Amino acid sequence: MDTVIDRPTLHRLDGPFGVEVRGVAVGDCSDDVFAFVDDAFQHHGALVIRGQQLDPGQLHRFAARFGPLEAHTLQQYTLPGDPFIYVLSNIEVDGRPIGVHNEGIGWHTDLTYKRRPPMSTILYGLVCPPEGSDTLVADTCAAYEALPAADKAALDGVKVLHSFQMLHDSRVGRAPLTPEQKAATPDVWHPLVRRHPRDGRKALYLGTGTVKAVEGMTQEEARRLVFRLVDFATQERFVYRHKWQAGDVLMWDNRCTLHTGTLFDDVRYKRHIHRLMMQGTEPV
Ligand code: SIN
Repeated sequence: MDTVIDRPTLHRLDGPFGVEVRGVAVGDCSDDVFAFVDDAFQHHGALVIRGQQLDPGQLHRFAARFGPLEAHTLQQYTLPGDPFIYVLSNIEVDGRPIGVHNEGIGWHTDLTYKRRPPMSTILYGLVCPPEGSDTLVADTCAAYEALPAADKAALDGVKVLHSFQMLHDSRVGRAPLTPEQKAATPDVWHPLVRRHPRDGRKALYLGTGTVKAVEGMTQEEARRLVFRLVDFATQERFVYRHKWQAGDVLMWDNRCTLHTGTLFDDVRYKRHIHRLMMQGTEPV
């Protein structure tokens, strides 16, 4: 496809938030064009750039322009030769999976179990099924704003305990964590409502799978609260649904969104995605 270089334009996505940038070849864009893309990302929570042709080096260099990259917790699923590119795939080579399949199913925000969770995540689609496998991204600033005033008052200041080990243990068929992996992922407390570092807007900050406790609540109360808030924040009115085409770049801002992958017919279709994350700051 012809790509117009250096004349980027901004377009609304088919959803309640997020933007598409057109007219950019991200593997080879000038500093001015990159600044345009970065500004769009920082203001809109979700960003799409279609029609890219990126080798792993170009994708890595594009991601690294946003800031230092975040290492993955489970290095065994990264691309040989690039420990920052995580492979989401149901493709097998010589009978062996070359990536993780269905990893991101269930609403979550990436690596909430880290003291400084990643600012953002980039997915790049190499092989995409013609149906299914959409990625959904929910705007947790808009969801927070839409909460009843009594909820906002009750939730501000509440702390949540996030646990990678609990998430890992809940997944079937995963190799047990090594002592080094356990030592690198202690449980961590974060605010349930965080402020976006760019403009101070408040966002719900939680996910399914990693929340081990909520300050001042029994386990059952904590579980009910988390599912109630996630259900609220992931109503259609807050969600952008990304329908994949090969060559798509999808980015989301982990400071103000939740996301989930969705299932597809993995007997009929292959899916192969490269994922990188950029480092963030401690939520406040
Ligand atoms: C993820 O949660 O990082 C992946 C989502 C997807 O595979 O669509």
